Amino acid sequence: MKNGETTVVIDGLWGDGGKGKIGAHICHYEDYDCVVRAGTGTNAGHSTQLNAEEELRTNQLPVAGILTNFRTGKLPLLAIGSGVCVNPDVLVKEIEQLKKYKISERIIIDEKCPVIEPRHIEAESKGAAYSEGHTGSTKSGTGACRMSRVERTGLLARQVDELKCLCGNVAEILNRAYDNGEKILIEGTQGHFLSLYLSPEYPVVTSDNCTVSAFIDDVGLAWNRVDQVCMIVKSAPTRVSQGCGNLPGEISKEEILRRGIAEYGVTTGRLRRKTLQIPFDLIAEAVMINQPTYFALTFCDHVDQTFHSGCLPDHITREDLKAYPKTYANLRELEKRFGVPVKYIDYGKLFTDITVVVD
Ligand code: IMP
Ligand code: MG
Repeated sequence: MKNGETTVVIDGLWGDGGKGKIGAHICHYEDYDCVVRAGTGTNAGHSTQLNAEEELRTNQLPVAGILTNFRTGKLPLLAIGSGVCVNPDVLVKEIEQLKKYKISERIIIDEKCPVIEPRHIEAESKGAAYSEGHTGSTKSGTGACRMSRVERTGLLARQVDELKCLCGNVAEILNRAYDNGEKILIEGTQGHFLSLYLSPEYPVVTSDNCTVSAFIDDVGLAWNRVDQVCMIVKSAPTRVSQGCGNLPGEISKEEILRRGIAEYGVTTGRLRRKTLQIPFDLIAEAVMINQPTYFALTFCDHVDQTFHSGCLPDHITREDLKAYPKTYANLRELEKRFGVPVKYIDYGKLFTDITVVVD
């Protein structure tokens, strides 16, 4: 019997690198059967700008599986793994907003998912541990929900009326799908250096690890069923609030605005702090722990400002990328230092502003 194929998408730094967009691109152009969201909960916002009018933006659903496959027109199965905290209001709202993509007909929530209750959101809105200066939390209730789970006092998805009809056993579905030769994409959230137990930056971290191993654990897929790991490397890395973690080479707010490269959090709307340098020594640690099989180099237009939307063909050679010196230098450094190819270059706001590196 033919084995399946699993791709895990993760971010090598602090998140907001475009996992949703790259994942959506992979699923749209390759033939994926199941797309599953891993990660902590609704704290992470994933988005992709389809065109001038339409942006797909979620905090709960896996954004990568919303679109149809461009060749077959197929809509993949969508799932949320049992390690992911679910906010029923957020989920129901997203399913409704994305009605035209028939989400309700193809989404399965693991029946054991922890449920974010109003008391969790309230606890985070008041708790000192969740202040701007301490962890920079998004206050989505995710961390407090995980605490209830650890205390074994929290609700599970199967106990909530709005969720019951969407519940299933995601681990079983995925492992069976793999045995049946299907393709699975695991959409991780946040970034390696927000990992609770592995990041040196505690307490400016989230409420679980953000690694490949953590993500396959979140969805219950066996370790030997991971085939590809796509690591996102953001050319212009960002971090949240002032005082929340070091950002080597950080530029001023004025410079961010002057260059027109401001970014605001999908969940919180806060202006991100930013640098124009990739911290390669940190990437080395993320590579060691997550073993990517390829990189996606994103936000290249923020460092090479001669890129403009639609300026590149669907495929590009390394030679042709020399016209974009900072991007070419980043690509060379990643490939030389880690022996891992850069497969995707993201160079603009739109979903279509991604090119595949060939030769
Ligand atoms: P929490 O998980 O919302 O409590 O946030 C803990 C830390 O992770 C804070 O520094 C957040 O800013 C950061 N964080 C959580 N989700 C994201 C994300 O999607 N992108 C970037 N940072 C995040
Ligand atoms: Mg977990």
